[in-house]
Amino acid sequence: MSGAAGSRGAGSYCIEVYGCQMNQHDAEIISGIMLSAGYVQCSDPVSSDVVIVVTCAVREHAERRALGRLSQLAGRRRGREGSLAVCGCVAQEHGEGLLSMVEGVDFVVGPDCYTDIPSLLRLPGGSRVSLTELRGQAYDGVEPARSGFPRAYVTIMTGCDNYCSYCIVPYVRGREQSRDPGAILDEVGRLAEAGYGEITLLGQNVNSYRSGGLVFSSLLRMVAEAALPARVRFVTSHPRDLGEDIVAAMADSPNVCRQLHLPLQSGDDDVLARMGRGYDTAHYTGVVRSLREAMPGIELSTDILVGFPGETAAAFERTMGIMEEIAFDYAFLFRFSPRSGTAAAGMSDQIPETERLRRLSLVQELQRALTLESSRALIGSTVRV
Ligand code: SAH
Ligand code: SF4
Ligand code: F3S
Repeated sequence: MSGAAGSRGAGSYCIEVYGCQMNQHDAEIISGIMLSAGYVQCSDPVSSDVVIVVTCAVREHAERRALGRLSQLAGRRRGREGSLAVCGCVAQEHGEGLLSMVEGVDFVVGPDCYTDIPSLLRLPGGSRVSLTELRGQAYDGVEPARSGFPRAYVTIMTGCDNYCSYCIVPYVRGREQSRDPGAILDEVGRLAEAGYGEITLLGQNVNSYRSGGLVFSSLLRMVAEAALPARVRFVTSHPRDLGEDIVAAMADSPNVCRQLHLPLQSGDDDVLARMGRGYDTAHYTGVVRSLREAMPGIELSTDILVGFPGETAAAFERTMGIMEEIAFDYAFLFRFSPRSGTAAAGMSDQIPETERLRRLSLVQELQRALTLESSRALIGSTVRV
């Protein structure tokens, strides 16, 4: 497979990534696989022999963006040799269907099949293949080509079993699977030795980590120790599963950052129940209280999803109220986007798009003020960065 990139060996590859930290780290894993197969990385998606796009499907907008970018790349590369591969969550969602949806896509590779990419690329020209088997892959044997020094991601679990009624992730990432603690600690130790300053443990619901009798709080204590002197973060936590043992493990480990991302989604108990989140607002505020008691000044961020089917004006007001009461330092704000195959997409009482947008702009305005206040409080202080 040769191209105009002037590369030697197997050829050149270019990788583009959209979506969450899981995808960012998957791109590093794919890069690691490509480099070991003899490819060299390049940054030009038109002249490189292989283009890999790692996609996100969580909202319709993300998916449309992925499909648009793929068509654009396919168009620009028309008439050239080489391959265009779609990876990540849109690949898993549509599988083989993507080959007909976007002309010019050669390979569709789901999140558990990345080690197969080099062999796909050796197939005769013109081959078009989709691989989307979900195998619970943790890529233990792959050395990721990390791009974020001095920050590093370490996967501790894959998949999600929560099936929140709005969310596509369990369908595209498969069943929850915890990674072997030995492999995690080994990776963390090597990163600390290599001089990394910050290690982020990754999973869709890290608090439900379990390997044999080992639960997340014990793993966190062990990781914090192995990471020294580096500091440690973890995403994403689930309010239902964030118990006192985890709060204590954080508080007892000085190199675990005094920062937590704890998605609330809604401030209304009925909406939370229909989202299938498994907690109510009283539980959530209780968790926040114990975090703040154990670690005064802890920085809290959240995800808020407005316009969920059946969200009444009063329910929306309750979300605004709790955001203000907790005064999150930062928040990622979304309007509900129906995803096919999820329970919420089929619920009655869908909120019109104009109203979803209106509610979104109201929470954006509120959060801007809260974030400003939180940043102002730091003026004059000295912090370690
Ligand atoms: N596992 C994490 C993150 C999942 S995706 C968690 O449980 O919080 C990140 C965020 O995207 C979610 O927290 C949610 O707020 C948002 N999201 C997920 N599905 C969505 C949908 N269908 N429409 C709008 N936002 C969505
Ligand atoms: Fe989606 Fe819920 Fe799983 Fe998060 S916990 S990935 S929101 S199903
Ligand atoms: Fe998007 Fe997949 Fe992450 S759908 S949010 S890239 S797990």
